[in-house]
Amino acid sequence: MRDLSILGLPLTTPVIVGSGLLTDQERNIRRLLEKGAGAVVTKTIHPNPPQGLDERILRLPVGMLNSTTYSKRPVNHWLGVLRSFADDRLPVIASLHADSPTELAALARDVEKTGCRALELGISCLNEEDGLEDDNPDRVYAYTSATRGRTALPLSVKLAVGEGLQERARAAIAGGADAITLSDTIPGAAVSPATGDLELNGVYGYSGPGLKPLVLAAVWQLRRRGIDLPVMGVGGVSSGRDVADYLSVGANVAQVYTALHTEMYDTLERILAETRELLGEPQGAAL
Ligand SMILES: Cc1cc2nc3c(=O)[nH]c(=O)nc-3n(C[C@H](O)[C@H](O)[C@H](O)COP(=O)(O)O)c2cc1C
Repeated sequence: MRDLSILGLPLTTPVIVGSGLLTDQERNIRRLLEKGAGAVVTKTIHPNPPQGLDERILRLPVGMLNSTTYSKRPVNHWLGVLRSFADDRLPVIASLHADSPTELAALARDVEKTGCRALELGISCLNEEDGLEDDNPDRVYAYTSATRGRTALPLSVKLAVGEGLQERARAAIAGGADAITLSDTIPGAAVSPATGDLELNGVYGYSGPGLKPLVLAAVWQLRRRGIDLPVMGVGGVSSGRDVADYLSVGANVAQVYTALHTEMYDTLERILAETRELLGEPQGAAL
């Protein structure tokens, strides 16, 4: 396998742990890295996360619905944690979002001062009260360019598969993104057999194996249309085969998240071993 890196981080494997509840804790992040994850993305850090929402996860026969939004831990807590990761030279990508582009840019600046080496802009979460109905290229450009203007850190912009993806990806590039993370969860619903109402009382983020064919198709199409910046493929990875499939369609690395809700560390170790088996060891990666 050729040299491997993303956002300036040298990687020992193309398997990265994606952002979510499991990465809301310093202890989990450290252990995931000890088990061999190439890097870990934090739960999305937000200066003003919505309060009082009923944030839950629901396992479906295939995949998962979740109504979670952002980390409830204060920014100052995260700045301390990121500083300690940086002191230990750990490959941690800080996922960030805020209520406005200016606030996101200020947060990115504060995070840069901790010594953190890479950012992911978690701007595509659909679980806020009004969903993501205003998602469009202008919004993506506004968040990306404002952040780019305040930090020199490599940054990936996280998008969701769906309508207008190509334009949103081009807006991220125009705004100064160094990479794209694809995909966030997409709108999903399940009906409660008991009540006939929607589970979780609405439409929320769907993740897991059902997402993978959609994201594979989207990455492949972005590449075909000439988008050549690094892509982190995310959605439904639960085996080394899935990781290899993402690389085959043009992703540079793959992130795994929902699969880790079952036996987190064992599952990660299995995916890492299967990936090694299929792809070999990356060469020249800094251990
Ligand atoms: C419970 C849960 C919480 C999540 N929280 C975040 C988050 O805070 N920020 C973010 O960018 N993505 C978040 N995600 C999305 C995942 O990082 C990932 O993009 C998505 O679930 C698709 O990958 P998967 O099928 O491997 O889970 C979350 C997903 C789940 C299931």
